[in-house]
Amino acid sequence: MFLRYKSYSDWTRRAGEEKVWHNENMEHVALWGGRFNGAPADALTELSRSTHFDWRLARYDIAGSRAHARALHAAGLLDDAELAGMLDALRRLEGDVVSGRFAPRPDDEDVHTALERGVLERAGAQLGGKLRAGRSRNDQIATLIRMYLRDQSRIIGGKLLDVAGALMVQAERAGQAVMPGRTHMQHAQPVLVAHHLLAHVWPMLRDVQRLRDLDSRLAESPYGSGALAGNTLGMDPQTVAEDLGFTSSVWNSIDGTSSRDLVAEFSFVMAQIGIDVSRISEEIIIWNTKEFSFVTLDDAFSTGSSIMPQKKNPDVAELARGKAGRLIGDHTGLLTMLKGLPLAYDRDLQEDKEPVFDQVDTLDVLLPAVAGMIETMILNYERMAELAPQGFSLATDIAEWLVREGVPFREAHEISGACVAACEAESIELWDLSDEQFAQIDPRLTSGVRRVLSVEGSVNARAGRGGTAPQRVREQAEEAARHLADLRAFTAALIVAS
Ligand code: ARG
Repeated sequence: MFLRYKSYSDWTRRAGEEKVWHNENMEHVALWGGRFNGAPADALTELSRSTHFDWRLARYDIAGSRAHARALHAAGLLDDAELAGMLDALRRLEGDVVSGRFAPRPDDEDVHTALERGVLERAGAQLGGKLRAGRSRNDQIATLIRMYLRDQSRIIGGKLLDVAGALMVQAERAGQAVMPGRTHMQHAQPVLVAHHLLAHVWPMLRDVQRLRDLDSRLAESPYGSGALAGNTLGMDPQTVAEDLGFTSSVWNSIDGTSSRDLVAEFSFVMAQIGIDVSRISEEIIIWNTKEFSFVTLDDAFSTGSSIMPQKKNPDVAELARGKAGRLIGDHTGLLTMLKGLPLAYDRDLQEDKEPVFDQVDTLDVLLPAVAGMIETMILNYERMAELAPQGFSLATDIAEWLVREGVPFREAHEISGACVAACEAESIELWDLSDEQFAQIDPRLTSGVRRVLSVEGSVNARAGRGGTAPQRVREQAEEAARHLADLRAFTAALIVAS
């Protein structure tokens, strides 16, 4: 029986007893203990255990063990038969992990401990006991998290592209429809609906670009770094790296085992995705009010109220907005944990995983719902068009028309402002001013100004690269589609979890 102590006094009383790290049925295997006279307190075991979250890395750990077994073989530390036996044990173990037949037990400290037990049970203590040579949980865990993040960059990136794709479909559907463009939430200048929707697409495309860039840094394997200083057994980290789909091994074993900046970088992108999704969601929430009436959400993506029968609520968008807070919190917690940690590995680093796992799990369910909500929403183009010219949103067009007539912008700005003031006094719109009223404000305001006093004229005039003129928006949509297709090539190719 493995020694368990219920209390500190029990521990001191029994500390001299013979210790047994596993029984003959392999009912418990600890990865350490040789120098200890007493077993860990239950309170430590409870605190230390990480299998409830790191078990999701089990398949990566087994992939690492396969590569490690081959490296032991190449270094002459396993003969041909031993390698075959080890790989067979690992294959059977993986099958049992996937089917759920093999799972961690309460006395397994972490994913590595549990899987070592699994190997020992299948390969026997003699052969199974050889697998641990030349590696440490420090280089193992640093490698596994990178493998996991490389796959998740693709999985979450792919789901974000679905959201971007849904926005692009809506942009295409909108054609040349117009809406009020806003700054400070106030009417500013009319824009194409497509232009506005695509403005939400670009940040999402950049998030996936960030994940692709990050992947080139994640593609360095820490395996072979040992606990911190490297391994003495002549195994080649570079071969292990290639075996696991990495581009190369790390240049510095201390850096390899103790840095988590790459985890933090991934976590930032997850938080940024939360922010990007929450911004379009906030707009949808506003557009969905009676006052705006810009959008009708599909029943499948709306919820009702338990007391108010008339209610149809935008819960998907609200949850997106709310979960952005959680995603940022995960990122903040991770950065705070990393701050001030001395080299090399510290156990604090075990706390790097739950924040990113939570982010992945959150986005995994959030993004498909947001994509569905956006894909199925019906935009009310008529209402948007009706509001597009209101709030004197064509005032800049008057000023710029005057500039084209040779008036300095300083003056033109003043003159256009005077037109707005005149309209406000009479509660009319700019196009309601008569030729006489225009001339009274400034003689240079001839009837030619009426040409730009339409939403169509306004958007057509913004024809420079990146502007809202229909031709530019068409080109922009094509360019965004090219970017999206390019990024799909990245997200489609999983490294390990295929
Ligand atoms: N569970 C640890 C982690 O997640 C890895 C094990 C390293 N433990 C140790 N005592 N060196 O970071």
